[in-house]
Amino acid sequence: MTAINDVTTLETVGEVAVLTLNSPPVNALSAPVREGINNGIKQAMENDAVKAIVLICEGKTFIAGADITEFGKAPAGPSLFDALNMIEFASKPVIAAIHGTALGGGLEVALTCHYRVAVPSAKCGLPEVNLGLLPGAGGTQRLPRIVGPEKALEMVTSGSHVGAKKCLEMGLVDELTEEGKLRDGAIAFAKKIVAEKRPLKRVRDLSDKVEAARGKPEIFSEFRKANARKFRGFLAPEYNIQCIEAAVNLPFDEGIKVEQKLFRELVTGTQSAAQRHVFFAERQVWKLPDVPADTPTIPVNKVGIIGAGTMGGGIAMNFLNVGLPVTIVETKQEALDRGIATIRKNYENSAKKGRFSMEEVEKRMGLLTGSLEMEALADSDLVIEAVFENMDVKKQVFSKLDAIVKQGAILATNTSALNIDEIATAVKRPEAVIGLHFFSPANVMRLLEVVRADKTSKPVIATSMQLAKKIGKIAALVGVCPGFVGNRILAQRQREAQKLILEGAMPWDVDRVLYDFGLPMGPFAMSDLAGLDIGWSKEKSQGATIRDVLCEMDRRGQKTGAGFYDYDENRNAKPSPVVEKIILDFAQKKGINRRKISDDEILERCIYPMINEGAKILEEGKAIRSSDIDIVWINGYGFPVYRGGPMFYGDTVGADKVLAKMKEFQAQMGDDFKPAALLEKIVAEGKKFSDF
Ligand code: 3HC
Ligand code: NAI
Repeated sequence: MTAINDVTTLETVGEVAVLTLNSPPVNALSAPVREGINNGIKQAMENDAVKAIVLICEGKTFIAGADITEFGKAPAGPSLFDALNMIEFASKPVIAAIHGTALGGGLEVALTCHYRVAVPSAKCGLPEVNLGLLPGAGGTQRLPRIVGPEKALEMVTSGSHVGAKKCLEMGLVDELTEEGKLRDGAIAFAKKIVAEKRPLKRVRDLSDKVEAARGKPEIFSEFRKANARKFRGFLAPEYNIQCIEAAVNLPFDEGIKVEQKLFRELVTGTQSAAQRHVFFAERQVWKLPDVPADTPTIPVNKVGIIGAGTMGGGIAMNFLNVGLPVTIVETKQEALDRGIATIRKNYENSAKKGRFSMEEVEKRMGLLTGSLEMEALADSDLVIEAVFENMDVKKQVFSKLDAIVKQGAILATNTSALNIDEIATAVKRPEAVIGLHFFSPANVMRLLEVVRADKTSKPVIATSMQLAKKIGKIAALVGVCPGFVGNRILAQRQREAQKLILEGAMPWDVDRVLYDFGLPMGPFAMSDLAGLDIGWSKEKSQGATIRDVLCEMDRRGQKTGAGFYDYDENRNAKPSPVVEKIILDFAQKKGINRRKISDDEILERCIYPMINEGAKILEEGKAIRSSDIDIVWINGYGFPVYRGGPMFYGDTVGADKVLAKMKEFQAQMGDDFKPAALLEKIVAEGKKFSDF
């Protein structure tokens, strides 16, 4: 065995050379890996005894792509194209031996090999689109030549990982080997190729599939139309489509030029920078400086939930989905029955859509027990309280839990705004108390804010994060403050949105600007969807806000056919002349001189105070890092991924510009716009939000 460099070895087994890459964690195509491939293949070529080469990886996976950390840095070592040419133009067959995931540049390496073998558990994909990129090492030109443009379009724009068996059907993999015996299987395959004197199969030379699609532009126009909603705002899907179009319409080398040009545009653009930021932010968020990975955790085998309302039911489903038994406690039989029936209905609907079988519905429902007695929770390892949002009620519940539930269990609250330190005073074991703030619908929304109270113990935090992962959430650890991280920032935007409609904008103006910015919907459309009467009561209403007036008129949102908007029978929203008049009258009564408000002002007034609040949150240590705030807003509120979250967006705009605008607004409109001390500091020190 010869070491080619620190991460590559070359070994000859009879007439087959085995080139092995070993660059943990994922064998990404860093400079040493590229060098290893380049020089390894070269050496094998020079050895006359070698008739074929197997390219294989150590560790958990085949090459998982280009080294994302290298983007934006000066190029070093041989280019990926040098390494790919070395493989593709080798005079002896090169066979990729795939386990784990062959992703992005990894699959592109495999596509320059003359043959591909894989274990059944392996997966292949071109996930560059998720990083705001396109496969920039020939993937968009080679893939459609094997699988055809339709499947290629699907793969490059979804970034999905395709299982080895499917790859075999599509021709992307030539043979499956026995699980766990990849090396032997690949060597045997190589010997077979040599013995049969099979020709070198170069993907670049295949033409039947792309030629068959030539002169059929509808393949692309229909694909664009069908996915327009999904791709809204993103550059990368469209650029990927253009590359596949080039593969169909141009000779290989010309297609590569198109791919190169579009790749360069994307990789230097802000969208890809934002999406790469999110990739790393999603991995960072699990790392807790003072709760190391080896912190002991509490085994959780039984979950208790109190309250079978909107949240309790959804929360329960998360645990049932992963096979954990759940006991749900209510005060009245009727509420319990209703809650359980809703869970069943949700599961049955999923089964109807083909997501799983009816047996699976019964299996999950079989794990659920309902009770009217809190005593039923005595042996739970984790109890999550989801009763009414009222401090006295919550404290009573916790004090009762303290007397009933076994020691060592986690006592969690799903409160969205109450002070968890105060809730913890109701028990003699405050170290067991934590906030698990699920978002509605709790069985769907990916975000979980794990709220650490003053006395919460580290094992309780570590267990909560681990459980979040188990139930498929992305969890951010945050501190106790009004609204925690997500809703605290939301409050800034909501306040400005309400002010803007009195000062001169209309709800549909504000909504349009925020929708065009990339949010799934604006604040007023959102209120109409959720129901304007959440937290509103006729008795307490004083007509003090536009919302009060609308609710009093029974314009309570989509469910009543009218809210800030008018709705037709298909729930299509139309700007409402009635609401316009209400707003104008209201502003007049308040003595507000309405003025024309520009789209820029709407955007800046809604978004910059959010960034500023994020800075305050960081300054108070209520979030660990600014990228955690981005994770909260992307996963809990639909902040566009291609803008990287509010804090990354702050960096894109420039902290200095955000500060200058906040000061300008403060001078005009007062201290709602008072800059955070950290924002001033970031600007003074020439730093970025992402440095914190
Ligand atoms: N470059 C650099 N680092 C990478 C990386 C990459 N391509 N892929 C993963 N990593 C790092 C992660 O940041 C993480 O680092 P950390 O431990 O310091 O946090 C570590 O590898 C392990 O990653 P995961 O925690 O994600 O491990 P999993 O086992 O859960 O998942 C994986 C493994 C499926 C390979 C997943 O990491 C993944 O999806 N990686 C990205 C794949 C990708 O997007 N490839 C395309 C890159 S762009 C490209 O190839 C351009 C080309 O066309 C020119
Ligand atoms: P809900 O009103 O739909 O459900 C609350 C349920 O708790 C009711 O069914 C009620 O009968 C039951 N309950 C009240 N006191 C109880 C007690 N002592 N023992 C057992 N059951 C009791 O309320 P929802 O929306 O589910 O909210 C629950 C909690 O979740 C609140 O703290 C809320 O702030 C929080 N939350 C709500 C979100 C939402 O969007 N609805 C989002 C995130 C958190």
